[in-house]
Amino acid sequence: MIKPHGSDELNPLFVDNSEQRHALEAEAENLPSILLNSAAAANAVMLGGGYFNPLTGYMNLADAMAVAENMHTSSGLFFPVPVLNLTSEAGVEAGSRIALRDPNVEGNPVLAIMDVDAVESVTEEQIDFMAEKIFRTLDPNHPGVATFKSLGKTMLSGSIQVLNFSYFQADFPDTFRTAVEIRNEIAEHGWNKVVAFQTRNPMHRAHEELCRMAMEDLGTDGILIHMLLGKLKPGDIPAEVRDASIRKMVEVYFPENTVMITGYGFDMLYAGPREAVLHAVFRQNCGCSHLIVGRDHAGVGDYYGGFDAQTIFEEEVPEDALELQIYNADHTAYSKKLNKVVMMRDAPDHSKDDFVLLSGTAVREMLGKGIAPPPEFSRPEVAKILSDYYQLLDS
Ligand code: ADX
Repeated sequence: MIKPHGSDELNPLFVDNSEQRHALEAEAENLPSILLNSAAAANAVMLGGGYFNPLTGYMNLADAMAVAENMHTSSGLFFPVPVLNLTSEAGVEAGSRIALRDPNVEGNPVLAIMDVDAVESVTEEQIDFMAEKIFRTLDPNHPGVATFKSLGKTMLSGSIQVLNFSYFQADFPDTFRTAVEIRNEIAEHGWNKVVAFQTRNPMHRAHEELCRMAMEDLGTDGILIHMLLGKLKPGDIPAEVRDASIRKMVEVYFPENTVMITGYGFDMLYAGPREAVLHAVFRQNCGCSHLIVGRDHAGVGDYYGGFDAQTIFEEEVPEDALELQIYNADHTAYSKKLNKVVMMRDAPDHSKDDFVLLSGTAVREMLGKGIAPPPEFSRPEVAKILSDYYQLLDS
């Protein structure tokens, strides 16, 4: 199986030994504590699960600025985005050991213990510098920029020990997986070549066929459908609805034992190209050999060009930075001429009108009124689940 990023073995920061974990939980009750913001909590969950291998904790300011600027830490490790614990809380001292409390679980239980190496003040200019590099914009209407700028101006860096996976295991028992678990399951399946499909949306025909095309073109043993389970911007479809519709699609339309339906506990950044590279890092850590990157991957609004998330791999990611390879997908849609879903690059004689193209807004309106989108766009079983959700929401 493909090696993790940056080390021979995966080093998840979750404390797997239950005795040791209980001792740390007891210790945490007597430590000074801070309440994390959701972004820092999601980082802890990802560090815990091995997704951010080989990081051992939150980055300091020098690393954060270097990673934002050129995707390398000051010691030369390739990493696509800063992994930060920014806070507004005062009083944390460098050299101290603190408990990190979870903002997303009732009662704010301790999520991790941190050995604080440094407590650094970050200027507005430094925040803007990082935001501009990560998101390619400083527009406050960009949801990722808005979140990033609200996180606080004190940067706590240092290693962490993770004690649980926040709400993800309880809320998504069948779907949430750590990178460790995914590696183990891939090994159990006996798969070698595995392509990952990142998603934060329900899967329509285009997505389904994209998975099929990638599997066939690459000759993979299986596909990892890997959905984001953390926070999204308002209006996006909740994870449990996406999960149900994806499960139905796989049950009806994919051969058994070719698909793993899984999810990870991270909040969406909407950072387009940079997030695509981050996605590649954590799929490599999961043991996947390939990642599908299609149109407007991890994008939002019109902030990124349709294929910027592909060109970043060619233009900005050094060739030896990652072992995982990208499967570049062109805009995919149902062709009325060929009566099947195709990539537009494979149908050069087509005009726009030859494809079944529907905007997200149009599909949402149809589903809200109980009207099923055409079967060329959406499988009826999938449309039913989404329609039930929208009708409940609108009632
Ligand atoms: S994302 O934010 O997780 O990227 P989404 O779930 O919509 O959003 O997309 C999942 C993957 O499918 C991404 O790689 C995206 O680029 C790709 N994709 C979605 N729709 C299309 C399409 N019509 N044509 C080509 N690629 C697509």
